[in-house]
Amino acid sequence: MQDIIDELQARRAAARMGGGERRIAAQHKKGKLTARERLDALLDEGSFEEWDMFVEHDCTDFDMADQRVPGDGVVTGWGTINGRKVFVFSQDFTVFGGSLSQAHAGKICKVMDQAVRLGVPVIGLNDSGGARIQEGVGSLAGYAEVFQRNVLASGVVPQLSMIMGPCAGGAVYSPAMTDFVFMVRDTSYLFVTGPEVVKTVTHEEVSHEDLGGASAHTTKSGVADLAFDNDIEALRQLRRFFDFLPANNRQQPPVWPTSDASDRAEPSLDSLIPTDPAQPYDIKELIHKVADEEDFFELQPNHAANIIIGFGRIGGHTVGFVANQPMVLAGCLDIASSIKAARFVRFCDCFNIPIVTFVDVPGFLPGTAQEHGGIIKHGAKLLFAFAEATVPKVTVITRKAYGGAYDVMSSKHLRGDVNYAWPTAEIAVMGPKGAVEIIFRQDRDDPQRIAQRTAEYREKFANPFVAAQKGFIDDVIMPRNTRRRIARALHLLADKVLENPWRKHDNIPL
Ligand code: HXC
Repeated sequence: MQDIIDELQARRAAARMGGGERRIAAQHKKGKLTARERLDALLDEGSFEEWDMFVEHDCTDFDMADQRVPGDGVVTGWGTINGRKVFVFSQDFTVFGGSLSQAHAGKICKVMDQAVRLGVPVIGLNDSGGARIQEGVGSLAGYAEVFQRNVLASGVVPQLSMIMGPCAGGAVYSPAMTDFVFMVRDTSYLFVTGPEVVKTVTHEEVSHEDLGGASAHTTKSGVADLAFDNDIEALRQLRRFFDFLPANNRQQPPVWPTSDASDRAEPSLDSLIPTDPAQPYDIKELIHKVADEEDFFELQPNHAANIIIGFGRIGGHTVGFVANQPMVLAGCLDIASSIKAARFVRFCDCFNIPIVTFVDVPGFLPGTAQEHGGIIKHGAKLLFAFAEATVPKVTVITRKAYGGAYDVMSSKHLRGDVNYAWPTAEIAVMGPKGAVEIIFRQDRDDPQRIAQRTAEYREKFANPFVAAQKGFIDDVIMPRNTRRRIARALHLLADKVLENPWRKHDNIPL
């Protein structure tokens, strides 16, 4: 018996060594943890249960029969994060560069299948040289098997990707289809074709980092939601992020204890809005002052910063915050911000997370770049996302809500459940100056008359009361009471039931 136990221990030890000491040292030298060290940092201590530790590839080409490493370049299984179950896969760069063979893909597929069956989220830690070159089409088949599962799991269980090394070629499409993509600065990159191919085809010279590093994807492309300085920080924040999410689409997000009273008043909010309507202010101050313990997990802070998205809690319950940011492009909606917020709203709707929307929007950004870039179709995404969402929707208009953008931003007319306005709200077709220049065109050469007309227009429309008279605003609230009023609204809406008509799926303007 002892022999058998010894053999098991020896096999386990061999599997745990991955590609061996030399390659582990090389991984550390790059500032990266190994696949197993990452899982130790991500999961609750002692909670990880590994599956398929002894799986090996069956490739015999290119002398591969002599190069078999138990586990085949990916560590899979399940564990817990703050006591809540999660399936994980962590690619092991020390084994064939973490490249994906059919056997490697089979291990990922196994945990994904179980995740959907059991209603447990999946986290992938990606660090891979892509398709296992020696396997050819077998590895492409493996990728497609993973992609198919990403699609079937979408909207059923949360899927999170942390990019912790290379991720190139078609391999990028698995993380791209997950709900959130995070990256580690300087050690990770994502691109469809690398710098060498780019140079051959377009003659552009670009570094790995500039083409697909964390900075490129968290500022320009919006492919990644956040970047972190190193593996440890990334995994620590991933644990924090996980705590906001429900296990699956049939469950509510977890409720975390808080000592922050839901009726906490914030007198400083009464003076948040500047006297000059053209002057910006930071909408994040409002989000922080409304959220439990001022804790706000912002996503994509450096991409399309004219809209803010992220998670916080009110009374211990997760909410998704969406807010126009007057500090950037005056808070206008444009292509990038519409896409950014639409995807976030849809995630919240998939996973029973109420949406709190703060509105200060002067309209859609004008210009040929926007029109030719398809603002009509992309702006419609955000409109569509808010309109189809059936989760509780609470909206607060703090200042401007002009034109079509008023309708889009979770208005009453898109089944907003509780819609409040601050006394400083201006709900109108457009700003007073623009409106007067159109309806009183005949007076345009008379500055005095224009000024008088503008003042009249402002007096009549630049307030929340016309909308409130029509019932489009449920109440005009004191800014200091915003947290209490939202908390009460969410409490009221806790058992909301609303269903859209049956269909195979909708046809959001992609
Ligand atoms: C097999 C691979 C591999 C791969 C790396 N290795 N990539 N083995 N298949 N795709 C192995 C190396 O041979 C090496 O083995 C070890 O992993 C580490 O690789 P290094 O090159 O020494 O590491 P580094 O210098 O850090 O460079 C990492 C790298 C580079 C940039 C990822 O290895 C590389 O360019 N690999 C090829 C990438 C690629 O073209 N993949 C296919 C993309 S197409 P030893 O034994 O020396 O440790 C694709 C299609 C997917 O993925 C389609 C899906 C639909």
